[in-house]
Amino acid sequence: MISIIPKPTDTPDDNSTKMVLDELNKMEVPFRVRYLESIDPFDTAIENETIWACGIRQNGQNFEVLNALALSNRVVNPPEGIVTCASKVATSARLVRAGIETPVTFFGEARALAHDFLDHWGQVIYKPVYGFDGNGIVLISEKEELDAIEPPFYLQEYIPSVRDFRVFVIEDEAVGAIMRQSNSLTHNIHQGGCGQAVSVDDEMADLAIQSAKAVGVDYGGVDLIERGSEYTVLEVNGTPNWHCMTAPIPRLLAEFLIECDF
Ligand SMILES: Nc1ncnc2c1ncn2[C@@H]1O[C@H](COP(=O)(O)OP(=O)(O)O)[C@@H](O)[C@H]1O
Ligand SMILES: [Mg+2]
Repeated sequence: MISIIPKPTDTPDDNSTKMVLDELNKMEVPFRVRYLESIDPFDTAIENETIWACGIRQNGQNFEVLNALALSNRVVNPPEGIVTCASKVATSARLVRAGIETPVTFFGEARALAHDFLDHWGQVIYKPVYGFDGNGIVLISEKEELDAIEPPFYLQEYIPSVRDFRVFVIEDEAVGAIMRQSNSLTHNIHQGGCGQAVSVDDEMADLAIQSAKAVGVDYGGVDLIERGSEYTVLEVNGTPNWHCMTAPIPRLLAEFLIECDF
C-alpha cells in the first residue's frame, strides 16, 4: 500500500501533493493519506507500506515519527536523506567526501577563522545551516557584517551569477531541469527568480545524479551554479518542488512510488 504524507506548505494554488495523487488516481492505484502529527511512533500496525513524504515540517516530532516509520516501512525519501538535505553542513560534508564539485565552504564558530575566510575570498556568502528557499542568505564583504551574525558560520566563496539551475533526479536519472534567473543574489523562485525549463546536459545530469546519491535520497532537486564553464553543486533538496519544470514530474514520481511498492 502507498501512503502519502502531504507537504505542510501546500496551498490550493500550489499543491505538489495533489499533483502526484491525481496521477495515482488516473492510474487507479490505491493510496491513503497520513499525517505525521497524528502517527504514534510506537504503532507497529503501520508496516510494509511505501510511505512518501512529499514534505515534512522541520521539527523534532516530524523527524522522529518518520524515522520510526522507516523501521518497518519503505519511506521515500529515506529519513536520513531528508535530514542530510535539511542541513547545509551535512550536505556539504557528503559532497566534499564524494569528490563532487561544490563551492569552497567554511563552517565553524570561531569569529577569527570566519574573518580569515572572508580575508581570503574578499566576499563570501553566509547561509543559515537549516535554511531553504533562499531565506537568510546574504553576501558579506566586511568584517563588521560578519560580526552582526550569530555563529555558527556557514560561509561560502561567492560565485557571481545571474542564474542557477535546479535538476530533478529520480533514482539514477536526471529527468528535468530549469534555469532560474534574477537580478538578485539568490535566484530561488521564492525570492522572485524566474524559472524556465532547459534541457539536461550530460555534465548537469552526471553531477546531479552523483549528488543525490551522495546525500542518500531516492529522488531530489539538485541546485547547480556555473563557475566559469563548469557547474558546481550548491545543495540537494530532499523534498523538492518542481516549479516551472516541463518534464512530467508528478507522473514520474507516481510511477516511482508504484515501483517502490512492489
Ligand atoms: N556560493 C554562492 N555564490 C553565489 N550565489 C550563491 C551561492 N550559494 C547560493 N547562492 C545563491 O543563493 C541561492 C540559494 O542557495 P542554496 O544553497 O540553494 O540555498 P537554499 O536552500 O536557501 O535554496 C542559489 O540558488 C544561488 O542563487
Ligand atoms: Mg536551493
